[in-house]
Amino acid sequence: MNPLLLLRPLLSWCLLAILFTPTSGCLPHERAALLAFGAGMNYSLTLRARLSSWGRRAHDDCCSWPGVICHPTTGYVIKLKLRNSNPPPDYPPADDNNASPRQVREINSSLLALTELRYLDLSSHDFRGVLFPQFIGSFRKLRYLNLSFSHFAGGIPPQIENLSRLRYLDLQFALDPHVDTLNWLAQFSSLQHLDLSGLDLALTNVPTTLLGSLKVLRMSECGINSFPISSSVAYNFTSLIVLDLSGNPSLISVLPEGLWNLSSLAHLDLSFCAFRGGIPDAIGGLSSLTYLYLSFNRDLEGSIPGSIARLQRLEELSLGGNLLTGNFPSWIEQLTSLTTLDLSENRLHGFIPESLGKLCNLTELYLHGNSFQGALSKVHLDNLTKLEVLDLSSNSLNISVRKDWIPPFQLEIAGFGSCLLGPSFPPWLQHQTRIILLDLSDNEIAGVLPDWAWNISYFTIEYLELSDNNIQGKLPNFPEHTNLNMLRLAYNLLEGPLPDKLPVELSTLVLDSNYFSDQLPVWPYVCNVSFSNNNFTGAISSSVCQWIMLSFLDLSSNEFSGEIPHCLGESLNVLERLNLDNNLLSGEIPTTIGFLTSLGTLRLSNNGLSGGIPPSLQNCSKLVLLDLSNNKFSGSIPTWMGEKLSSLAFLKLGSNHFSGYIPQQLAHSGKLQMLDLPHNNLSGTIPPNIWNFSAMASTSQVRNEELEYIELELITKGQELYYLSISDLIRSIDLSCNNLVGEIPEGVGHLAGLRNLNLSMNHLNGSIPQQLGRMELLESLDLSNNELSGNIPESLSALHSLSHLNLSYNNLSGRIPFLQQLTSLDDPSIYAGNPGLCGSPISKLCSNTKVNQSGEPHETEVHREGSEWLWIWISIMLGLVMGFWTFCGILFFNKKWRYAYFHIADSLYDRVLLRLELLLAHLRHRN
Ligand SMILES: *[C@@H]1O[C@H](CO)[C@@H](O)[C@H](O)[C@H]1NC(C)=O
Ligand SMILES: *[C@@H]1O[C@H](CO)[C@@H](O)[C@H](O)[C@H]1NC(C)=O
Ligand SMILES: *[C@@H]1O[C@H](CO)[C@@H](O)[C@H](O)[C@H]1NC(C)=O
Ligand SMILES: *[C@@H]1O[C@H](CO)[C@@H](O)[C@H](O)[C@H]1NC(C)=O
Ligand SMILES: *[C@@H]1O[C@H](CO)[C@@H](O)[C@H](O)[C@H]1NC(C)=O
Ligand SMILES: *[C@@H]1O[C@H](CO)[C@@H](O)[C@H](O)[C@H]1NC(C)=O
Repeated sequence: MNPLLLLRPLLSWCLLAILFTPTSGCLPHERAALLAFGAGMNYSLTLRARLSSWGRRAHDDCCSWPGVICHPTTGYVIKLKLRNSNPPPDYPPADDNNASPRQVREINSSLLALTELRYLDLSSHDFRGVLFPQFIGSFRKLRYLNLSFSHFAGGIPPQIENLSRLRYLDLQFALDPHVDTLNWLAQFSSLQHLDLSGLDLALTNVPTTLLGSLKVLRMSECGINSFPISSSVAYNFTSLIVLDLSGNPSLISVLPEGLWNLSSLAHLDLSFCAFRGGIPDAIGGLSSLTYLYLSFNRDLEGSIPGSIARLQRLEELSLGGNLLTGNFPSWIEQLTSLTTLDLSENRLHGFIPESLGKLCNLTELYLHGNSFQGALSKVHLDNLTKLEVLDLSSNSLNISVRKDWIPPFQLEIAGFGSCLLGPSFPPWLQHQTRIILLDLSDNEIAGVLPDWAWNISYFTIEYLELSDNNIQGKLPNFPEHTNLNMLRLAYNLLEGPLPDKLPVELSTLVLDSNYFSDQLPVWPYVCNVSFSNNNFTGAISSSVCQWIMLSFLDLSSNEFSGEIPHCLGESLNVLERLNLDNNLLSGEIPTTIGFLTSLGTLRLSNNGLSGGIPPSLQNCSKLVLLDLSNNKFSGSIPTWMGEKLSSLAFLKLGSNHFSGYIPQQLAHSGKLQMLDLPHNNLSGTIPPNIWNFSAMASTSQVRNEELEYIELELITKGQELYYLSISDLIRSIDLSCNNLVGEIPEGVGHLAGLRNLNLSMNHLNGSIPQQLGRMELLESLDLSNNELSGNIPESLSALHSLSHLNLSYNNLSGRIPFLQQLTSLDDPSIYAGNPGLCGSPISKLCSNTKVNQSGEPHETEVHREGSEWLWIWISIMLGLVMGFWTFCGILFFNKKWRYAYFHIADSLYDRVLLRLELLLAHLRHRN
């Protein structure tokens, strides 16, 4: 017998013993590699902090270092769990000044010594400016790789395709530049979890046959424009449980057929995309669905399919922000596991069935922005013991309960704006002790509020919105400490003096359009204050100078008189917006205004202010909007304006006594898009470089940082409406009613983005430049009451947007060109007072043609203020919305709050848009 055979059991026993004997600590070369990795970590402060305890003692065991996990027997490092568990809510903006521009930083590749690594998590550390680790492809044994939220620079190296054993790959927000290719994914046949959210895949060919093994696929906010799973292979994705494609607004498509073959889906998020068409019945086949989000796809229409009732596991159903029609789905009662139901912002109507009350696990119910009617009663509400969010705003809904009804729930978000809850303050609210946001605006609540109504607001409420009611009485004196952060009481009947003290936490107070009077108290902590249209008289008290946290102040449309307090400039260091329009103020602008270096808007129109523009205003370099119109200002327009006020976008100096030349330097301001100087004594010629305003030259959107954040906030809604850009709308030059002489300078065609050009009532001569025809977006052109001569250029017929034209009272001659777009303004008065003109629509025939008689000329109201409606709109936008969005600090909301908060903002924004639409309708009517 071979003795080796006898030895075999012994040998295997020895082998086993070797394998399972715990080793003492980590391998020296791995320890060295970890130390090198840590030592080189000077670019990510958070990771450096995480590694700070590594290798403190000379010979300690690296397997015991935080985040390092070794194989129990071999001692090899198999896991590095270095996630930053306390990431900041958002990273500070990358500070490019600190890094020398071309220095590219890299993670030390010493880590490669860890050949047995299976698991690597470096997520949530800020790696801005650091290259995506190029060596990553060499960790052949990696099963789990998490580089999420690290914002690496550089591309994904091709070697990544060698990580073919990966099961989990989380690259959400892992790198900032756009991703060239995802072809390497084809090698990852074992992948179960793939997260590419936040990567820029807009230019990337997303392989349509992703991996059949996937359980989780997240591609949220990637800029993709096609559905990543092609319908022909969808049935192969039998294991897919989570599919998240939310936030891809370029994904314009009907809901793809293949979706309904993903039979294991439990979590489907297609919100904030651009899916259109109906929701098919086939959705009822996804029987495992627990979370279904289809909200804010702008054009999803039709009725809500009844087959959803078959989705018995459904816990969250979000269909808000679409165009869905029909009644409240009565079959909802079958979805007894529902905790969140969102049908908001659709076109649903009818009564809310009482069977809603069967959803006893409901915690969040969003119905706002529909046309529901009737009332919610005890039967609806008495079983909803877990309800925390109830948003019924903007429906014709009432809550009809007995006065002594005690709700079974404790709401956190109570949204009842524009409902029918008045006229008394709903008594049942006194039992609600956890409310954070209460919106009762526009409910016809009348009379004096009961004391308890004020008192509940002191418990937990942070946002209290009671505007647009008929609330009477005085404001109470608030306790020093409450949770109240924002209080809005605009458009009520409140009166009397303001309370002496505000809660320390209150940052936003909006009391517009009431009857408050008397003095301004000392409120040292408030940030945003709006009192426009009240009964304040007398001088602006210097107590306002003690509101040292103030960032937004609107005292417009009162009867404040006297001078603007000098101390304002010295003390309100963080003031960003000041509105004193429509008062009786007199005197000069105090020179201390120059201390307000954060000022973004300064509005002093319609007062009796005089003097010149103070030179100290040069220091307000962040000024975006300056409105001094309708005052008695005099002197010249300072030459520094275009140079020092480099952010200036809106300049309104009309109806004053400004004299002298229009400074050439104005054109140096790259952002100016409204130049409004009518009704002054300006003389000289129009500066030849006036057409250099770059912001007006572009026909595309001009980004204006100061305005951008409003838009950003609103874009988050994902609706097209909210992409509407202010900068796009208002591009206007009005120099009318001055003493300008000379010709209209050449080059006017550069301003292709201009909407309104008014040079009327001057002494301009020469001819109308041919180039005018290049201003494709021009809506209103007024050159009347000048001394212009020559022909009307044919090129005007290229101005397709033109809806208002006035060339009257000049010396124009020759044939009137055929202006196709002007059939609506086919009005002889456009050409009146030009004896040399002939042809349609005026009655004088040109000598050598037959002219057929045009239809009856009808009187058109001549409106000279072509841009006025735009101005009204921007006034509302800047005044209201900016004021609303100004916060002293940065507020971080959890999802629920954000939702409701946006909603409040929306109702506000909707009102603004409504006003705009009325104005537009009015304008069209006048045309
Ligand atoms: C990595 O760190 C080691 C030790 O600190 C150093 O010698 C090496 O040059 C570094 N390598 C890179 C690529 O930075
Ligand atoms: C990756 O890390 C982030 C946080 O840093 C975490 O939210 C995410 O769930 C992780 N991904 C995986 C697949 O575990
Ligand atoms: C992947 O690994 C193979 C085998 O080691 C190697 O030949 C190949 O070059 C690697 N691929 C890339 C892209 O580095
Ligand atoms: C379906 O998946 C299997 C394995 O998951 C794969 O072999 C097959 O090629 C896939 N079919 C298609 C059409 O992608
Ligand atoms: C995919 O779903 C459709 C219905 O939605 C069904 O007719 C078809 O048979 C399914 N395909 C496969 C391969 O399961
Ligand atoms: C409500 O939720 C509880 C706990 O979350 C659960 O046990 C119960 O089954 C749910 N009720 C219904 C009707 O789904």
